[in-house]
Amino acid sequence: PESSEDYGYEACKAVVDWLLKQAEVRPLVGIVCGSGLGGLADMLKDQKVYSYKDIPNFPQSTVPGHAGQLVFGTLKGKPCVCMRGRFHLYEGYPIQQVTMPIRIFKMLGVETVILTNAAGGLNQDFKVGDVMIIKDHINMPGFAGNNPLCGHNDERFGTRFPCMSDAYDKHMRQLAHEVAAELGYSQFIREGVYCVLGGPSFETIAECRMLNLLGADAVGMSTVHEVIVARHSGMRVFALSLITNKAVMDYESEEKANHVEVLQTGEQRSQQLVKLVSTIVSRINQP
Ligand code: 6GU
Repeated sequence: PESSEDYGYEACKAVVDWLLKQAEVRPLVGIVCGSGLGGLADMLKDQKVYSYKDIPNFPQSTVPGHAGQLVFGTLKGKPCVCMRGRFHLYEGYPIQQVTMPIRIFKMLGVETVILTNAAGGLNQDFKVGDVMIIKDHINMPGFAGNNPLCGHNDERFGTRFPCMSDAYDKHMRQLAHEVAAELGYSQFIREGVYCVLGGPSFETIAECRMLNLLGADAVGMSTVHEVIVARHSGMRVFALSLITNKAVMDYESEEKANHVEVLQTGEQRSQQLVKLVSTIVSRINQP
């Protein structure tokens, strides 16, 4: 039977030892590419690419549009590691397995984690194609006891009861606004609260209305677990949502959330998103 130790310190260490033997780059920045946002990984220079399936003890990806590769390289001179394709709760993985790559980032020496995702817009002012800088989250699965830090706490990673009120680094958000303004992107940049649900079914109309009432601006199926694990181990976090569709909020609407629309919007905005993130990375100072 599986135990949380299967994805614990020793299991991560084994993956890290393997990776450090293969790759020369010692990454300071770890990037997680969301649906249709794998273009970020293509930007890395002097790439070393490892398919998840070829990395001993690494989880495997199952969703179309999520490639499943770890890419090492430099982005504007900064050493980076990029996940092209991430793991989701709805794939059936234990939650500690979903977040295992984040601990691997930490053990590789990563100081700053940048996460991207595709999300549905709940805020009625948002448009498809908007990019939301995440300033806070609502961890809905966490309310039901599904938190990646449940179970034994390994102090080598972090403390039992980590703070989450400062999860999304203020300086990184400030930097993102500055870079967006310089690039002329300000008209599609938003900032808001991301709510994670377990998925894989999209939300009902009543659920969208409820989430909106609760203060969520965007809804998705990822990122929050990774953020919690990253903050637990003291890494700095910056996260972006690409609003790929508007969550259906009224019974008159003929719209339906679908994965094709999510991927298409990702492709349309991806060049600008890549430019935004790479410029941010080039300006990161050591924490
Ligand atoms: Cl509308 N909902 C959820 N849960 N995830 C999404 C989405 C919507 N759009 C993209 N990802």
